[in-house]
Amino acid sequence: MTGERLHGIKGCVFDAYGTLFDFNSAVARCRDVLGEQADTLSRIWREKQLQYTWLRSLMGRHEDFWKVTGDALDFAMRSLEIRDEALRERLMSLYRVLDAFPEVPATLEALKSGGFKTAILSNGSPEMLLSVVQGTGIAHLLDAVLSVEAVGIYKPHPSVYKIAVDSLSLDAEAICFVSANAWDAHGASAFGLKVVWCNRYGQSREILPGAADVEVSTLAEIPSIVGIRD
Ligand code: LAC
Repeated sequence: MTGERLHGIKGCVFDAYGTLFDFNSAVARCRDVLGEQADTLSRIWREKQLQYTWLRSLMGRHEDFWKVTGDALDFAMRSLEIRDEALRERLMSLYRVLDAFPEVPATLEALKSGGFKTAILSNGSPEMLLSVVQGTGIAHLLDAVLSVEAVGIYKPHPSVYKIAVDSLSLDAEAICFVSANAWDAHGASAFGLKVVWCNRYGQSREILPGAADVEVSTLAEIPSIVGIRD
């Protein structure tokens, strides 16, 4: 427990992949086929997925996150010399039904019953997000599921973080944005949101504009950070 507090927060907005949902859970369910290559495939898939979002944004050639996720998987499988179309389809299907991290339902329930607005703000396409939100049974705990498709460019472009301000009708400093992706935390902070970095993966601090206001290792700490007593 950090003991740190953010004051004046009225809504909590969560990144999706890596923060609420475990992107490694897709590959984990295919260990029967992948064996020792599973962890490497998952790592390359995720790294390439993010790189393609940044590169496409710089190129002005947006495609939605489903397309980018498929392209990244193709690259990852190619780089490991895995040629298996059935496996590819299985992994893509599993990406729609990822696991939520264990503390997610209780955290969202605490925020909702504490009177806070709750939302997702993600690179994910609306269809992908709807599927994973429904599959994990948390739809009733969210006021909004917001996708970058509303602006046609990926995080960390400032127009993405503005979606949260506009959709929730809250001032930027009344929004606590929560991400496990350090670069996303910096992007949101540089825009003007309050930010909690959930450093689940024990990463080093980035050297980028903006800075997380609070660092935690699990989402379970969020309710007390925004002022909800246990
Ligand atoms: C997202 C990625 C960055 O959900 O995890 O937006």
